[in-house]
Amino acid sequence: MNTTTAQEPAVASPSALTQAGGAPHVRLIELSKTLGPLKAVDRVSLDIPRGQITTLLGPSGCGKSTTLRLLAGLYQLDSGDITLDGQGIAHLPPNKRQMTMVFQEYALFPHLTVADNVGYGLRMRRTPASQARARIGEMLELVGLSAAAGKHPHQLSGGQQQRVALARALAVDPEVLLLDEPLSNLDAKLRIRLREEIVRLQQVLGKTMVFVTHDQEEAMSISHQIAVMSGGRISQVGPPEEIYARPVSRYVAEFVGLANFIEGEVVAPGCFRFGDLAIPVQTGTVTGKATLMIRPEACTIMAPAVHPDGLALRGRLIQRTFLGNMARYTVDTPQGPMVVDDDAFTRRTLGDDVTLAVAPDRLHVLPV
Ligand SMILES: Nc1ncnc2c1ncn2[C@@H]1O[C@H](COP(=O)(O)OP(=O)(O)OP(=O)(O)O)[C@@H](O)[C@H]1O
Ligand SMILES: [Mg+2]
Repeated sequence: MNTTTAQEPAVASPSALTQAGGAPHVRLIELSKTLGPLKAVDRVSLDIPRGQITTLLGPSGCGKSTTLRLLAGLYQLDSGDITLDGQGIAHLPPNKRQMTMVFQEYALFPHLTVADNVGYGLRMRRTPASQARARIGEMLELVGLSAAAGKHPHQLSGGQQQRVALARALAVDPEVLLLDEPLSNLDAKLRIRLREEIVRLQQVLGKTMVFVTHDQEEAMSISHQIAVMSGGRISQVGPPEEIYARPVSRYVAEFVGLANFIEGEVVAPGCFRFGDLAIPVQTGTVTGKATLMIRPEACTIMAPAVHPDGLALRGRLIQRTFLGNMARYTVDTPQGPMVVDDDAFTRRTLGDDVTLAVAPDRLHVLPV
């Protein structure tokens, strides 16, 4: 599996995506950086596929921005290497790395018009004026702001300012676009609109993007590949579906969504035992004490007398929360309370006895 755990030394393992799409566009090889007393980034290795969105996901302080800054050349590496198309770039200054960055704070020049902001990088590169004008027009059209070309940043909404920042970063046609929590200053609805916009831009332009966020839903919704980080290390790399369904650790499982956990033991390959029950489940390489992970939407509430395949737990409905698109129940079981997502409009009565069923392929065993 293309994963490393927080305990193991990080190794440069090509991801499944990279193997499918040829050589990685960018490679981070054993990057380390100490800031103050702390190893902010600790032997981080990651292959970034061409023309896809790779997201660094993790809680505050886990080293996402530091990794991005190392990539951009805004920080010098303590050790490790970075390649772009197979060529080492760690010795190059930021302006020679063919990467541009979009920040959380839009960082537009307040005294320049929108058009001049978008054209800033082109001027720095001494692009001929007529060519720059055409490029600025093209970029503003791409982000839907042609009408705002002559305005100043303070005349725009936050979402519009971030669109200008995107247009500015893309105007110079970078090899790689780096985005550090670009949506964090926007309200919830606008965040969703603009993240869809970023996905659309990525599809239209085919750009390689590295996106940083601490929001798991945002990461899931936009990424081809997610690297989950913790304490300056990468805990797991993979497509969103794999990270969600087959996390390598409880840390990753909890960071990317709600989950139920049952403590037990792998007593033989393919057999997980807890209490006086033993169930068949893919145990992979896990042996000994282990944890069974079950996502709420993988559970089905059934009548008490049924005996389905996979896991079946006797329980009682003790709580219901209506969420509009679904109802979330708490089922009291001998293994503790389990959270279950159900159809919003199926009538159920609190206090009823039920069987909580989980299909074998939705059970996932984690090491303790
Ligand atoms: N200039 C600095 N000097 C000292 N320590 C720093 C500096 N910049 C970051 N750090 C520390 O390095 C660690 C990683 O910081 P980093 O900014 O990369 O985290 P992050 O994952 O981007 O967090 P956030 O989600 O809050 O932006 C943190 O513990 C942080 O306090
Ligand atoms: Mg950060």
